[in-house]
Amino acid sequence: MKLGVVILAAGQGTRMKSALPKVLHNIAGRPLLAHVIDTARVLGGDKVAVVYGHGGDRVQQAIADPGLVWVEQAEQLGTGHAVEQAMFAMADMDRVLVLYGDVPLTTQVTLNSLIHQAEGSALALLTVTLDDPTGYGRIVRVEGHVTRIVEQKDASEVEQRIREINTGILIAERAKLAGWLARLESNNAQGEFYLTDIVAMAVDDGIEVKTAHPADTFEVEGVNDRVQLAMLERRHQQMQAERLMRQGVTLRDPARFDLRGRLHSGEDVELDVNVLIEGEVTLGNGVRVGANTVIRNSRIGDGVWIKENCVIEDAVIGADSIIGPFARLRPATTLAERVHVGNFVEIKKSDVAAGSKINHLSYIGDTTIGRSVNIGAGTITCNYDGVNKFRTVIGDNAFIGSDTQLVAPVEVGAGATIGAGSTITRDAPPDTLTLSRAKQLTLKGWKRPEKQGD
Ligand code: UD1
Ligand code: MG
Repeated sequence: MKLGVVILAAGQGTRMKSALPKVLHNIAGRPLLAHVIDTARVLGGDKVAVVYGHGGDRVQQAIADPGLVWVEQAEQLGTGHAVEQAMFAMADMDRVLVLYGDVPLTTQVTLNSLIHQAEGSALALLTVTLDDPTGYGRIVRVEGHVTRIVEQKDASEVEQRIREINTGILIAERAKLAGWLARLESNNAQGEFYLTDIVAMAVDDGIEVKTAHPADTFEVEGVNDRVQLAMLERRHQQMQAERLMRQGVTLRDPARFDLRGRLHSGEDVELDVNVLIEGEVTLGNGVRVGANTVIRNSRIGDGVWIKENCVIEDAVIGADSIIGPFARLRPATTLAERVHVGNFVEIKKSDVAAGSKINHLSYIGDTTIGRSVNIGAGTITCNYDGVNKFRTVIGDNAFIGSDTQLVAPVEVGAGATIGAGSTITRDAPPDTLTLSRAKQLTLKGWKRPEKQGD
């Protein structure tokens, strides 16, 4: 059985009040449409078609998925018309599932239950019962059997009291669906080709229309404005937080945790409040992350303690290292085991070997640091001459005195000591003291100037 998926995404999204097409607005750092495409793929969709209208080029560029079929619906003549535009792409499919580019959080469990219903029928609908069904298409049943869907604007007063509504998501046998769509008419209150009219046609064909229901209503909620966007973002974050906690991650406050990407975590990981994880992040066993820290595309080893207010991006941190508070690790930084990086330290494109310490107020860029090196407070690698970048190399067991400038390209040998306050422009040999510093003077009898006049 081949499953085709048609995702409707031609809507303007005027209520977003945005230059960006609605389906490109993000939830958890990914476009709404990308969430729906993910869902289609997880369900095993053999072909996925996206019906676009407004901002089509931007949508295609942003999604950049070569496996998709893009179908333009230049004029929006209704949901039935939209699905019909994509039917050419479904020609070799057995069944067609209709999803919506602005309904991002439908779960696999719910959709599988809908697909399961479609095993016994040519048409199955995802429906839900709401306290306030205003605005939605109503599911009309006779003696429990679905007979048709009536849109709000076409519904009688009695029909408007029906609380079971059409979510819009449905699955149908491809060949039958094609036939029904070809027979749609637009003689209704909105002058549109309603996808929902296929229900009465199926019933006329003697088909028992089946229904499935989501576990929770947020699964079928669409995004029309930024308030709804924020609400679904929260729901999504809440679900992710719950999943992580069930996997054994301690979140000090699940309401103050955001994951925009994927987190792989070991045992007994603890995240304090306002931690933000982005991209692909791996946290080893026993990792602790302090409040207000951002970690993006990084691998953190076992036993690492990242204290408050750090920003870590495209970095690797070895086991048992201690980072922060207020540290910044920039892309292509690799720290080995037991490295200490303290407050107001910035490291970029550098490798630091085991047991080395950079504890206060430093900039380390384009540098290779050996084992057990101590970098004194205020040390800076001058890696940039205004045009080119150069490397600094520091050997094992070197000791760099405070407030040193290492003007790259430069090498400090293993075991070398650099006197505090030095500007090092030439290589410092191993196991020696190198310093570049004016001699200290004391002027006897010197007096401070006194204030003159008034
Ligand atoms: C539709 C359903 C209604 C259901 C509701 C759920 C129909 C006729 N009605 O109503 O029963 O309760 O969704 O939210 O199907 N779209 C296109 N091309 C079009 C028209 C729509 O791509 O020509 C897309 C829109 O971008 C949107 C979705 O289809 O994502 C739904 O369209 P909309 O006009 O909002 O449908 P409703 O009137 O809300
Ligand atoms: Mg409409």
